Amino acid sequence: MPFIIAIDGPAASGKGTIARALASHFGFHHLDTGLLYRATGAKGGDPIAAARGLTPDDLARAGLRSAAAGQAASRVAAIPEVRAALVEFQHRFAAQEPGAVLDGRDIGTVICPDAQVKLYVVASDEVRARRRAAELGAEATVMLVELRERDRRDSERATAPLRPADDAVVLDTSNLTIEEAIRRAVAAVERVRGGL
Ligand code: CDP
Repeated sequence: MPFIIAIDGPAASGKGTIARALASHFGFHHLDTGLLYRATGAKGGDPIAAARGLTPDDLARAGLRSAAAGQAASRVAAIPEVRAALVEFQHRFAAQEPGAVLDGRDIGTVICPDAQVKLYVVASDEVRARRRAAELGAEATVMLVELRERDRRDSERATAPLRPADDAVVLDTSNLTIEEAIRRAVAAVERVRGGL
């Protein structure tokens, strides 16, 4: 049975960096599920048709990391039919041997509720805004507004809202270096793997 690590959390909390590091450390596959919603939002037109017809080229499109693409993603992500259209791809990805790391908003709660390890990565609003501003070369004050708006939309939607799974390990990266955050995430996985 493949080993699944589910990582969720609000925007720019550090989950992508941690997910990539865990995948490389354990030799697992990694899927940034936010990219599926960003690509769906960026296609324009009917979002349900866009999600159903998503291609690898759509995922490679330029500009998907922008704040505007993030906003478009969170709007289409609230549509139940869009989410439903993306479930099978995520399930197939998670079923790969020897294991997979998926990061997003609903991995531990909806997509992979039986994941062996669930992390919920958080950081203060100010720290997240600073990190995203540095990544995108934007103003931290503008990013703060953008992240809060997206977090609110993601948390308040009816289908698969952003929230920690009951059995998730919460990792607050506000005051951690990247190395320390990764070290703690690896330790959380090792605790489970050691017990298998
Ligand atoms: O990198 P960042 O955390 O800013 O965003 P992302 O993970 O790329 O996700 C972009 C948007 O897609 C989020 O704000 C959510 O609205 C949506 N999303 C989702 O609904 N479910 C997921 N599993 C992943 C992303």
